Amino acid sequence: MGWLPTLIGHRGSAATAPENTLTGIRAAHAAGAEAVELDVKLSRDGVALLMHDDGLERTTNGVGRVVDADWATLQGLDAGYAKRFGDQFADERIPDLPSVLALLVELNLAANLEIKPCPGRERETAAATVAAVAAHWPAHLAPPVLSSFQRECLETVQALAPALPRGYLVEQLGPAWQAEATALGCVTVHPGRQALTAELAGVVRAAGFELAIWTVNDIDEAVRWRRSGANAIITDDPQRLAQALLVTAEGRTDA
Ligand code: G3P
Ligand code: MG
Repeated sequence: MGWLPTLIGHRGSAATAPENTLTGIRAAHAAGAEAVELDVKLSRDGVALLMHDDGLERTTNGVGRVVDADWATLQGLDAGYAKRFGDQFADERIPDLPSVLALLVELNLAANLEIKPCPGRERETAAATVAAVAAHWPAHLAPPVLSSFQRECLETVQALAPALPRGYLVEQLGPAWQAEATALGCVTVHPGRQALTAELAGVVRAAGFELAIWTVNDIDEAVRWRRSGANAIITDDPQRLAQALLVTAEGRTDA
């Protein structure tokens, strides 16, 4: 296996459990995901935590911006995402990054930590992510892949922890993708599914990068991307894709 396994749960298991929560990570694991993709931000007072949006409204019962809220306030919010899931996941909390890393180790789940800073906090969010991994990730396990849409975040990781694997994350691969990914020392490339072609997927692989495609929720499409060379499929619904993507005990896929 390379840096990333085949089946990666997006924000945990976003289709079936509150995203970017410990329950979501457990759901992805139970569904057969081999890794999870999670979004890392900072509270106002510098605590690294999981949250996708800059605002609190969609996934918590809070209001306002993450960048304006201290960790003590954020800890008091319900992250069970009641608008989507009702009271099924009542009392779910926003997790801090050390708690997340401890759970991943306990479950033996690999990870892709997407550094998703609130605007203006690119360097400090990347530095906090690196610090948490250094403090809480056992040296004998393969490290999480740290990805970001923000070049400044990847540059910071490269400067602070050059040995940590980095993922070049984009909606769409532009003309400079290979030069940029190479300059940032990335080992994986993470394009969005919508603008990607099988030909480009082949180019990425031929250039020596691992390829992780997001967000793929259709079984047939996921199998097609695997045949086009994708190493990893990032999906909201790992349970749906598990049978088609996971390698059986005989060492072949069922697809
Ligand atoms: O890391 C892949 C994907 O999560 C990037 O987009 O907005 O879902 O974080 P987003
Ligand atoms: Mg993400």
